[in-house]
Amino acid sequence: MRIIWSLTLTLWISHQCFGSGFQKSSFNRHELHHCRQEAQSLFYHAYDNYLRLAYPDDELYPIRCRGRTRNVENDADLDRNDVMGNYSATLVDSLTTLAIMGDKDRFKKAIDLIRTDLEPEFKINATVQVFETTIRILGGLLSAHLYATDPAKRVFLGREYDGILLHRAHRLADRLLPAYLTKTGLPLPRINLATEYRNVPPGFLQENNAAAMASPMLEFTLLSYLTHDDKYRQVTKYAFDKIWSLRSEIDLVPMSFSPHTEMANNFYTGIGASIDSFYEYALKGAILFQDDELWNVWELSYNALRKHSRGDWFFSNVELMSGHEILPWIDSLSAFFPGLQVLAGDVPDAQKKHLMFLKLWNTYGGIPERWEFDPREFENNEQELNASYVPLPWYPLRPEFVETTYFLYRATRDAFYLQVARSILQDLKNYFMTDCGFAGLQDVMTGQFQDRMETFVLSETLKYLYLTFDVDNELHKDGSNVIFSTEAHPLWLKAADFKRYKSSSFFEDTRYRDHLLRVQQRDASLKSSNINRFFHDISNLLLYRARYPDRNSTLNRKGISTGTCPIMRSANDSFQFLHSDVIRHCERLFEIDYRYASNLRKPSKLIDRVPIELESSFYHIWGSQTSPLPKCQLPPTTDSFDVIFRVGWSNSKTPPNSQLSGVYGPIKDSITIESLIGVRLQVEALIPGAIDLHGEVVDADYLAYLWELNSPAALGFPNPGQDFKNSASNDPRRPIYRVSILNGIQLAHNATVWINSTLDTSPSALGMNHNGMLMLDKVPVVNALFKSMF
Ligand SMILES: *[C@@H]1O[C@H](CO)[C@@H](O)[C@H](O)[C@H]1NC(C)=O
Ligand SMILES: *[C@@H]1O[C@H](CO)[C@@H](O)[C@H](O)[C@H]1NC(C)=O
Ligand SMILES: *[C@@H]1O[C@H](CO)[C@@H](O)[C@H](O)[C@H]1NC(C)=O
Ligand SMILES: *[C@@H]1O[C@H](CO)[C@@H](O)[C@H](O)[C@H]1NC(C)=O
Ligand SMILES: *[C@@H]1O[C@H](CO)[C@@H](O)[C@H](O)[C@H]1NC(C)=O
Ligand SMILES: *[C@@H]1O[C@H](CO)[C@@H](O)[C@H](O)[C@H]1NC(C)=O
Ligand SMILES: *[C@@H]1O[C@H](CO)[C@@H](O)[C@H](O)[C@H]1NC(C)=O
Repeated sequence: MRIIWSLTLTLWISHQCFGSGFQKSSFNRHELHHCRQEAQSLFYHAYDNYLRLAYPDDELYPIRCRGRTRNVENDADLDRNDVMGNYSATLVDSLTTLAIMGDKDRFKKAIDLIRTDLEPEFKINATVQVFETTIRILGGLLSAHLYATDPAKRVFLGREYDGILLHRAHRLADRLLPAYLTKTGLPLPRINLATEYRNVPPGFLQENNAAAMASPMLEFTLLSYLTHDDKYRQVTKYAFDKIWSLRSEIDLVPMSFSPHTEMANNFYTGIGASIDSFYEYALKGAILFQDDELWNVWELSYNALRKHSRGDWFFSNVELMSGHEILPWIDSLSAFFPGLQVLAGDVPDAQKKHLMFLKLWNTYGGIPERWEFDPREFENNEQELNASYVPLPWYPLRPEFVETTYFLYRATRDAFYLQVARSILQDLKNYFMTDCGFAGLQDVMTGQFQDRMETFVLSETLKYLYLTFDVDNELHKDGSNVIFSTEAHPLWLKAADFKRYKSSSFFEDTRYRDHLLRVQQRDASLKSSNINRFFHDISNLLLYRARYPDRNSTLNRKGISTGTCPIMRSANDSFQFLHSDVIRHCERLFEIDYRYASNLRKPSKLIDRVPIELESSFYHIWGSQTSPLPKCQLPPTTDSFDVIFRVGWSNSKTPPNSQLSGVYGPIKDSITIESLIGVRLQVEALIPGAIDLHGEVVDADYLAYLWELNSPAALGFPNPGQDFKNSASNDPRRPIYRVSILNGIQLAHNATVWINSTLDTSPSALGMNHNGMLMLDKVPVVNALFKSMF
């Protein structure tokens, strides 16, 4: 009797997505099914209410529960007017979420609304952002068109469908394309859909960012494939290529330009706001269009990023010419990047970078728009200090962290990511849901809500959540080249599309043909006059060193609660969900909590919230079976610094960033590089007692071993290893150097860097010892060896 009773209970509980039983996180198929349905019903809650209360307005006010429109009284209200073109934005942007859910009924009704209500020519008196309109509206229409016409999809409409979505997309593109008719070929940021530039204040057109200028290439190229009119591709690709050509010598792309002069407006870059989808579309464009040129852009730009901007846990902002770290913050938007790394095949690093955003979510109950990682202690009171780490404190329910979680789940099938997604789903339901929709936070510190539901909540956030749990979605079975646009619209092309496009594409529009010719001529003349249009000349620094602040950690090893639930397993979990390497084997799972303890400051009301990964019902099913507490690697206390070898790299036959192309770390034993020119090394100074980057305590024996291995006698140095062993004092000592990161790629403990060439120059700070070992400041770098010596 008892057994039967408990089985029944088990089944009942396991049917809940948010059940209170210990089974709730075992992620069997029933639970996934229910989480998926939960995501779907949250979507319907907002979508149906939008149609009922706000349509045909662009958005729904989730608190006031009525329509939200452009601000016609104040043109300068760009926050609103940039994204709301009076074209029922929420409806159009939601089309593909309906398609993904296989909801043919709502999908058809939405298309009917577009047919009857939407201004067919998009001749709307509204000045909007070209980029936002492209990704939300043009991309939404094109993707929905692909769904409606693909017999393999559940929402395939067959003869019922008249191509209306493609037709509308085509008309909209014609309204947006004039933004590219500038002297430089770079697009203006905004355009009036009815009048082009009549009555658009010049102040709205001065500056545009790299992402906004480069990205429309993807949607517009797809449009060319579908209409065979090649002007959309050629005009937007020209702008994409130009943005890439405006990169610095170390392949870093400025974030903002004047579209009138091509002058860069700033001297730093990163991966977040203003630049994000440049990288994204280089890679996704390469996949979608099978384009080697775009692949090359992705490879070089990713190499440059990981070399100069990749830190241990996040990509930081760096100066364009030198790669110096500046502006110590990370953007909420940059949470998309690990998802992109997954697509590129760099899963291990993506997993690390995802953890940083998880810790932000744990701390703030959302991802603040900007978070600062430089500790500071000067604020007067604790509240101000806490708030100072989130200078931009809002969280408008952005999708990027969910997106990355989804990609990582697809790549690893690790239950850890299901747990994260489930927890976010739960927060959407318990914290962010309103009577008619979802409201994000105006301030993560105060918990004040925002009466705003951007279209991406329905088109991205809820879509990625749904897809995470919908393990059998048709997108997951499909072997074709599906990519998600930056607005989460699935896009694909078939072999037949390529063929038809190749045989019948045309470019006849003289307005744009003449324009491209003029721009090309201008570029050629600028090039021949050899004017450096964009930057002051790069100083030919020999060697740049950035010292890292002492990483003397102030650890607080308490405060990790693991709950007291017994370890239980569900009777019939499907095999594929029965593992979590992250929770079981990631020894660095809690390193961020320690390292950034002073910056990750919870608002008081979240103090008792349990971190997602430690929720007891999850941790005790998936966590370590042997140790009750999570294992944790010690954060490093070694001093480390960066060295960049810059002399003459522009004459080197290997471009600086193509070395190690496609190598994703960590490097286990050894790696050979062509030369040191253009290489960036992070070097660790090993002294006894320090904890190194691998979390191991450096002991004197190990140093002595390294030292003997490398025969210091020949150099006339005392053997510090022996000194360490023989001395009990704490005198300052000569360290031994070891390369720990090479061009952004981690090296394993004992890995060796072999250098094919010899040193081109012999500046005093550099050298090579008799054993062929690289010397910096007369200190040998024990794992950097010149091959010519062997
Ligand atoms: C949106 O367009 C409709 C129809 O043209 C018009 O009546 C309405 O005033 C417009 N609303 C805004 C906010 O521009
Ligand atoms: C277009 O909208 C602007 C305000 O955004 C207004 O000043 C102007 O009169 C409108 N033009 C027409 C033709 O409706
Ligand atoms: C690291 O911390 C210890 C103990 O607080 C202190 O004695 C030591 O001086 C610190 N090291 C550095 C380099 O600041
Ligand atoms: C376990 O689940 C699988 C898939 O749902 C099913 O085929 C199988 O019969 C189940 N086994 C038991 C013992 O219930
Ligand atoms: C500031 O942050 C700390 C650490 O998270 C927390 O203990 C404290 O309650 C916070 N104080 C305020 C006023 O929010
Ligand atoms: C290093 O040199 C060897 C031959 O000496 C060559 O085969 C190899 O490709 C070189 N490696 C690199 C990375 O240049
Ligand atoms: C590194 O090399 C030392 C000496 O050969 C060896 O004892 C140690 O296990 C190695 N460490 C790793 C992580 O391979």
